[in-house]
Amino acid sequence: MPLVTDANDLPNTEANMQWGGRFAAGPSVIMQEINASIGFDRKMWRQDIAGSRAHAAMLARQGIIAQDDAASITAGLDQITAEIEAGRFPFTTDLEDIHMNIEARLTDRIGEAGKRLHTGRSRNDQVATDFRLWVRDAIDGIDGQIADVMRVLAARAAEHAADPMPGFTHLQTAQPVTFGHHMLAYVEMLARDRGRLADCRRRLNECPLGSAALAGTSFPLDRDMTAHALGFDRPTANSLDAVSDRDFALEFLSASAISSMHLSRLAEEIIIWCSAPYGFIRLSDAFTTGSSIMPQKRNPDAAELVRAKTGRVTGALVGLLTVMKGLPLAYAKDMQEDKEPVFDAADAWTLSLAATAGMVRDMTPNLARLREFAGSGFATATDLADWLVRVLKLPFRTAHHVTGRLVALAEGRGVDLAGLSLADMQGVEPGITQEIFGVLTVEASVASRVSYGGTAPANVAKQARRWTEALA
Ligand code: ARG
Repeated sequence: MPLVTDANDLPNTEANMQWGGRFAAGPSVIMQEINASIGFDRKMWRQDIAGSRAHAAMLARQGIIAQDDAASITAGLDQITAEIEAGRFPFTTDLEDIHMNIEARLTDRIGEAGKRLHTGRSRNDQVATDFRLWVRDAIDGIDGQIADVMRVLAARAAEHAADPMPGFTHLQTAQPVTFGHHMLAYVEMLARDRGRLADCRRRLNECPLGSAALAGTSFPLDRDMTAHALGFDRPTANSLDAVSDRDFALEFLSASAISSMHLSRLAEEIIIWCSAPYGFIRLSDAFTTGSSIMPQKRNPDAAELVRAKTGRVTGALVGLLTVMKGLPLAYAKDMQEDKEPVFDAADAWTLSLAATAGMVRDMTPNLARLREFAGSGFATATDLADWLVRVLKLPFRTAHHVTGRLVALAEGRGVDLAGLSLADMQGVEPGITQEIFGVLTVEASVASRVSYGGTAPANVAKQARRWTEALA
């Protein structure tokens, strides 16, 4: 039997042992090549074995197969587990997929009893079950990883709750914020990502096993038993839907696309922040590479790749949506194309989360430079306008206009707002007093943003603490 990795140009002359009863000759090489999924679905071997164990135990409990047969099946599956773990399992494309590879091996090892395992089951409900289990495991792992990234961000936020940096809109200096506040913005995004995963997991957690090919089965299965044995909340309620639904994969991919977009935005900021004209942060050698020609270079490759991997993750979502959109009920082989995008997106997401946690932990903010630019570009102009409203009771629109004139005046002189004299200010608005200079500093600006969710250091420290406790 040729291995999956081998180039296999000889026609297969033997009919398939799993479904070959009606087939005199074997499939052509090309048929085999396009049909086989073992090259990728072997990733689900643990889930496949878990599903078979649950199914066999249930068949025996229901008196559908003998207890002895169930015991040999379980023992055989133990041996197969050991073989796969040891890298000694003879995966073959002749047997198309992970389900038939394992079942055939089982029969090789335990004989007749192995042939009873597939009673009341089809590969259609089997693959739907295996894949749900795989996605559920992926969700649990990735959820933990997102929590890790959130913990790192919250720690950096606590550390820099009071350190000012420029806040941007349109990537133009807008108002000063704190570095901690900026970190916590990403914590909020990632918290929503976890919410999406939890939501996906809740809907995913119904067991298709027992739906058989599409119509259910005449055997007296106990679907609650297999569902609970596999950690599902309940069996699925419609066999046609159960074997042809891949919403759980699509929801996983859409959660991954949104989360990757978040990671990409942070990566983009990291890239901008560590470019020399900005110089807001520095990444160590651990997360940068040099250039083969320009000795001064320190390139943020990890961040760039996190940004780029968003492309393949989003592509996976669009790809699977496109596969699914035209399929009549119930199962169609098209659905075998569901796994690679999900595996690929999960890998990309996992790696991106690890790299993000590493970079956030690694980066050193240049606090002096962040402080300097926090006050540049008339960043406290809104504070000036707010003072005119609060103290002189000017309508905000009027205050905005007065401030605009002061900014123009300062710009003409080449100074910032605090560089104007009181007389200059009073030339524009006679009511202005010396007190106004108190609101023009970066520190006063950030400290004044005490509205719930605002950037005031006390707020930020409190939010950082809240997240650190919630994630402990
Ligand atoms: N390898 C197949 C898949 O991934 C398993 C289900 C095959 N079912 C069938 N009726 N051919 O979808």
